[in-house]
Amino acid sequence: MLHDVLGRPLRDLRLSVTDRCNLRCTYCMPADVFGPGYAFLPRAELLTFEELERLSRLFVGLGVQKLRLTGGEPTLRRDLPELVGRLSRIGGVQDLAMTTNGLLLPALAPALKAAGLRRVTVSLDSLDPEVFGRMNGLGTHPARVLDGIHAALHAGLGVKINTVVQRGVNDAGLHALWQALRDLAPVRFIEFMDVGNHNGWNLEGVVPSGEVLARLSAGGEPLQPVGAAYRGEVAARHRDAQGREVGLISSVTAPFCGDCTRARLSAAGVLYTCLFAGSGTDLRAPLRSGASDADLRGLIAGVWAGRRDRYSEERGEQERAAQRQKVEMSHIGG
Ligand code: GTP
Ligand code: 5AD
Ligand code: SF4
Ligand code: SF4
Repeated sequence: MLHDVLGRPLRDLRLSVTDRCNLRCTYCMPADVFGPGYAFLPRAELLTFEELERLSRLFVGLGVQKLRLTGGEPTLRRDLPELVGRLSRIGGVQDLAMTTNGLLLPALAPALKAAGLRRVTVSLDSLDPEVFGRMNGLGTHPARVLDGIHAALHAGLGVKINTVVQRGVNDAGLHALWQALRDLAPVRFIEFMDVGNHNGWNLEGVVPSGEVLARLSAGGEPLQPVGAAYRGEVAARHRDAQGREVGLISSVTAPFCGDCTRARLSAAGVLYTCLFAGSGTDLRAPLRSGASDADLRGLIAGVWAGRRDRYSEERGEQERAAQRQKVEMSHIGG
């Protein structure tokens, strides 16, 4: 089996299918940077569905069991259900999921489900229209995301909800959000991270997960920790007395690099071995210049075998780590 330098197997592949998004979340694609003049990737630079399918097959051959579609916003990629169909037919794929802002799910959920998508993780940071509108940069109303969540549930897709927590921005509404959504789906609170180079991150903006948990249980509802569903699970899950689930994703206060089995492929076909990587390995050029499956497999295996990334652990160890130039979140989708 293929392992990296730190003994971690390759298990998950996150495929970004577009660098575009129909929101401008301040912590991911701030509108002043990703404005009307921003040069998104031209279509010819995106991996085609054939290329995505071929690479996914090779990754599965190297040990990947779980595929996740990301973006930018993956639902903006034209004919996405066709890609889902191709990926779902790859033997050996045990899980096929997508991370989305949910806005286009009312139109797309049934077709995605029919094509073989198992589940979606929908990002929703606040139920307060003003707070959410400010965070998503465009004034978009949370009801539109809720419509997407309901559409996914109605279509039979598994649903989880991701909430990025920022101190002084949306942290006042965490308990209300969990109360309103916990009967629909597990909610996962994510510590604000220093991804990309433009989101103005600082430690004061982070609400440690321990504090989030304390606030959620402050109303007299004890939350019990639940063991990990699989090795390397990112979220530390807890349940209330009725079995409703909340997850805490603590990449700042409790990094989980030791079990990180994720590879990320940008929409342009660059392979990254860390969410915070400064550079990656281009797979598109070899793909388009006639590389054989064996060539590509060797290239990918070599990259993974040489991997020693553990950024979230280093962040605390050395000031310098946080100063490095990093890949943009919109290129690799979280
Ligand atoms: P499940 O398959 O449902 O368990 O999902 P997941 O938690 O693996 O995936 P998801 O994309 O929902 O991850 C939630 C969030 O956690 C991401 O959007 C990121 O913000 C963060 N995250 C996921 N993977 C990593 C990682 O490898 N490193 C860091 N630092 N953060 C991560
Ligand atoms: N910190 C934490 N989470 C982030 N996400 C995007 N940017 C950040 C950040 N700076 C999350 C989104 C979404 C997923 C793609 O990553 O909310 O759930
Ligand atoms: Fe778009 Fe998701 Fe980034 Fe928000 S976090 S700008 S919805 S890609
Ligand atoms: Fe994996 Fe990098 Fe995140 Fe650590 S910081 S868990 S190595 S993606």
